[in-house]
Amino acid sequence: MIVTTKKLFEAAYGKYAIGAYNINNLEQAMGLFRGNVESQAPFIIQISKGARSYTHKSMLEAIIRAADALFPEAVFAVHLDHGDEETCYDAINSGFYSSVMIDASHEDFETNVAITRRVVEAAHAKGVVVEAELGQLGGVEEHVAVDEAGAKLTDPDKAKEFVERTGCDSLAVAIGTSHGAYKFSGAQTLRLDVLAEIQKRLPGFPLVLHGASSIPQEEVERINAAGGNLKGAKGVDENLFKRAAELGVTKVNIDTDGRLVWVRVHREYLKEHPEVVDFRPIGKIFMAEYAKMIAHKNEKLGSAGRLPEIRKLLGLD
Ligand code: 13P
Repeated sequence: MIVTTKKLFEAAYGKYAIGAYNINNLEQAMGLFRGNVESQAPFIIQISKGARSYTHKSMLEAIIRAADALFPEAVFAVHLDHGDEETCYDAINSGFYSSVMIDASHEDFETNVAITRRVVEAAHAKGVVVEAELGQLGGVEEHVAVDEAGAKLTDPDKAKEFVERTGCDSLAVAIGTSHGAYKFSGAQTLRLDVLAEIQKRLPGFPLVLHGASSIPQEEVERINAAGGNLKGAKGVDENLFKRAAELGVTKVNIDTDGRLVWVRVHREYLKEHPEVVDFRPIGKIFMAEYAKMIAHKNEKLGSAGRLPEIRKLLGLD
């Protein structure tokens, strides 16, 4: 069942975080629903602008609606990831998305406030909730590319002003992560000190962690052994998720780790079966492996096992 993130965040705040997983196709959708239902977790489906145009936005919507019917127990939000203003309005008016992200973080502060405010007004009029972003992550995400030097951590004082002036429902903060497979070098890690300062100024307000893939080293090694070249890839220590949740993070975005599962499964299978022409055996392995990864993430996030209480809270059982 599709819900807004509002109730999910209220239930999770301070205790655990909800996994927000980017998907693009049928196999990811099946793996995602299986992994979340098996681990009994509420979840958020993230759809980026690129995912909407990979086949067609209606195609992905139809796949998700079919999965919803196949897994009646599942409770999830459908979220537009990194929307520009135009894509946000399209998602809000579609009646399908329960949540949108307006990402105007690359604009100056006043412009970011103005754009976010406009999207919040349009979204709230239709019962859709809004995630906004202040500060800038490194890496490439949809319409925004930021190099290391351009990445800016969120200013805690500005975060409070931004939330008050825009009326957004949750805030994506930049605390040292970046999108993609290469996040940190040396001893760099999450800036939980900055997160703590943000939480002090915005107690009880849901925060969002982007760029949270952990880039498991075992996965990287297997990909490289099967012909890949991902040297030096490094991600977020997933053992920090629970601490981040205590500090107000209620949504954790994971995309690249799912892509790594896809690359590993396909590279290994095709290497071991050079004669293969049927794509279905690989697809089946991918769905199972992706489901396993989702269930593992939910354990780390603390969202595993929360589905019964969420269903009760929403009056579904
Ligand atoms: P990763 O690249 O770390 O998976 O981040 C995904 C993300 O933040 C999507 O918005």
